[in-house]
Amino acid sequence: MVISLPKPAKKIGFVLGVTRERDTLIVRLDENVEHEDIVEGNFVSIPLANGNTLIGRITTIRAENPQLSDERYAKFWMDRLRKSLDSRSMLEFTEFHIIEIVLVSNISFEGELSTPNAWVSPGSMVFECRDDLLELAVFGKERGAMEIGLFGEHSGEIPVNLNPNNLGSDGLAIFGSRGSGKSYAAGVIIEEFSEYGLPTLIVDPHGEYWGLSHASGPKGESSLPKYFVKVLYPNRYQPRYYKNMLAMSKKLDVNFSLEPVTMLFSEISTSEMFSFMYDLSSPQKEKIENTWYGIREAFGFAVCYDIDGFLGYGIENGIIDGSSRRPIVRKLEVFRKMGFFTVMNGAICHQSGSIIQEYDNNHRRQETTEKTKDLTNFTSVKNDFNVEQITILDVSQPGFDERARRIFVSSYLNRLRGTMEQKEIQRIFVLIEEAHRFIPIGESPTKRSIEWFAREGRKMGAGLGIVSQRPSGLDRDILSQCNSKLILRITEQSDILVAKDILAGFAERYIGLLPYLERGTGVLTGAALRIPILVKFRERKSTSKYGETVSLVADPTSKVKSRTAEKKEWT
Ligand SMILES: Nc1ncnc2c1ncn2[C@@H]1O[C@H](COP(=O)(O)OP(=O)(O)O)[C@@H](O)[C@H]1O
Ligand SMILES: [Mg+2]
Repeated sequence: MVISLPKPAKKIGFVLGVTRERDTLIVRLDENVEHEDIVEGNFVSIPLANGNTLIGRITTIRAENPQLSDERYAKFWMDRLRKSLDSRSMLEFTEFHIIEIVLVSNISFEGELSTPNAWVSPGSMVFECRDDLLELAVFGKERGAMEIGLFGEHSGEIPVNLNPNNLGSDGLAIFGSRGSGKSYAAGVIIEEFSEYGLPTLIVDPHGEYWGLSHASGPKGESSLPKYFVKVLYPNRYQPRYYKNMLAMSKKLDVNFSLEPVTMLFSEISTSEMFSFMYDLSSPQKEKIENTWYGIREAFGFAVCYDIDGFLGYGIENGIIDGSSRRPIVRKLEVFRKMGFFTVMNGAICHQSGSIIQEYDNNHRRQETTEKTKDLTNFTSVKNDFNVEQITILDVSQPGFDERARRIFVSSYLNRLRGTMEQKEIQRIFVLIEEAHRFIPIGESPTKRSIEWFAREGRKMGAGLGIVSQRPSGLDRDILSQCNSKLILRITEQSDILVAKDILAGFAERYIGLLPYLERGTGVLTGAALRIPILVKFRERKSTSKYGETVSLVADPTSKVKSRTAEKKEWT
């Protein structure tokens, strides 16, 4: 029987000592080492006498030549060579190369990982790191089968395979400037979760994710043949690509569905109401608040009502009265105009649907005609989710007011939260695109609903991912709940400062690189990895064309061709 032992690694140098800060080893490279093979971020190994192996990473590479820079050495050599000191630049043959390395892991003889804390003797031999040791040091023993791309600091092809539990339940923040590949990378992650069967929800303000429904790339044996996609949108605010979606939903060979969603007026809080109505006087605000509390006091939290039910209750009970009455009634019309609130004909119901009381158009009490209303879809969103299914909350309609968008999203997330607290949905991954719009610095109506997913979600089986091009404008509380970070190219100084704030340990060394990263390459840190690394994201298996940048000219290398193409468009 032939036992194939891993190929022995190549020796590259030996340890000279430690730097003054004592966290970095100084290594002299052997003469025969090709310098092209040595790159910052590369892994090296140092076998110890006790059978353990230390794993280190190269932080700096430099050439030294003390003979050249030191007058006395130089004179000594030039005298021996019988040359004048002026031509000392010929002393390049005395140049040698130094690398500095940081120790990142200790691997025992049995393959157990621990923190490196052994001292290293000067003279210890330093080797290139074997791929199997590297993978063990980076991914640990809990490595999963989630394939997001390739290891960016290796000339070979080491796949970045992660444990989806570690990536998903840890809180994931994806940052990068516009066009750095955030949404594309997030799409890769969603594809992977979906292949594991995990239901996902994407809050999509650009309408760029529904392309997940058309898978394009080659499929491995273990991959799904296609992804199941359901798009939800606020009633009366059709998604930006509605027509294309409608056509898609009629095709037989794709699993794509499209559904409008309505909200209950009772789902929004008074602060959300006030965010819409700037010109309310204090007494008017007070009356609205008192009505809101009055209903809760009288019937408990678990009641549903529409705008007429709300006004009817306030007017009947003398809370909304006097000169405030007409302006309040008029101002609340804003919400009716939004069009995504459910019409309950003035009824106030229990969540079960049984009607408590009803009001007519003039906010006068009317006799109940029916006994119940069907409210199943409001109290639970279970039907919106399914195994392997990607559910997209599309809030991309350009005419949709930004505050209305926030209210809609937060109400929906609250429903999802309620459904999870009832244990009707056991596991889900929630991705919020353009997160700075929903959780800006400071208080915002949407903050509380997202915060639950960041803080409590994990215990209930909900993972959270946030995507943003402006981390500096993002709420810090929620940011601090995200333990995993994927940072792509960042060019804005204020955003680099945030990256500096949130990257610790070895990852700090990537900060200088951030403005120069290639599209689709990012720094990944967090529980899914033992050591932060650069990841080159893999290609999407489904189309990403709806998020794609439209080229301004047809052929950047030829003005004539571009002009001809443009003329064709205009005639
Ligand atoms: N890894 C990648 N491979 C191929 N194309 C990519 C990759 N990442 C991004 N792109 C393309 O680059 C463009 C911008 O990417 P996108 O993810 O929309 O950027 P962002 O969300 O950061 O603004 C899109 O046209 C997208 O298709
Ligand atoms: Mg994007």
